[in-house]
Amino acid sequence: MITVETKYRKLVLVCTNCRDDGRECCMAKGSVELHAKLKEALKEVAPHVRVVKSGCLNACSAGATVVVMPENAWFGQVTEEDIPEIIRIASL
Ligand code: FES
Repeated sequence: MITVETKYRKLVLVCTNCRDDGRECCMAKGSVELHAKLKEALKEVAPHVRVVKSGCLNACSAGATVVVMPENAWFGQVTEEDIPEIIRIASL
């Protein structure tokens, strides 16, 4: 293995998992659109933060689920209205 140099200091994980078995999932709660808008918004104000799609974070009923690392700050029922607060936390 090698060490990878990166400009990123933080990660924001947005669960975009889709369940096809009828159970609740983040994709059904708009997380794909949420990811795109959050990524675009953070690119402008915090280029050191990488916003990535994640698989299931095992908080499905609370979705859409977003995690800010390394703070290990977990958020549920996230909507586009919460983007300013996530930006604030990720920019600290
Ligand atoms: S589907 Fe998003 S946490 Fe499980």
